[in-house]
Amino acid sequence: MTATEKNSLGLEIATIQPVIASLGELLANYQVFYTNLRGLHWNIKGDKFYELHELYEEYYNEMAEIIDETAERIVILGGVPANNFSDYLKLATVKEITGVSDWKVGVDNVFATLQLLLGQLRALHSLAVKSGDHGTVSLANHGIKNFEKKIWMLSAYCRE
Ligand SMILES: [Fe+2]
Repeated sequence: MTATEKNSLGLEIATIQPVIASLGELLANYQVFYTNLRGLHWNIKGDKFYELHELYEEYYNEMAEIIDETAERIVILGGVPANNFSDYLKLATVKEITGVSDWKVGVDNVFATLQLLLGQLRALHSLAVKSGDHGTVSLANHGIKNFEKKIWMLSAYCRE
């Protein structure tokens, strides 16, 4: 019987690779989402300007923390996180937006992005469970709860 190769955390390198890849895709999507949120914050116009300008700032500041946590998780697991947009855009499934000033178009875009990220976090969670990576399971759980709450709040906001 040959010993299965493990990283410094005691996790099997073969099963942790898909977790690292999934975190890398998430990181790429988060970076595009972050940049989209900055654009929405700058370009929003109309009677919802003040509330949405502030909400987007809150969101992108939170995303900056989440981005850092995600990238550091990749490093902790033995991977190397991408740190440039040319790499992010190859991996990202979140599309870039440009010059959106209509509040509803902006909120719909954020809503759809949160749904996409939620699906990706659930896939990450499954991979992390399979590899016994409890730290990433915890990160995924936290993200799932966070985005589910945001989806609820945006639903309530748009139906007012
Ligand atoms: Fe600002």
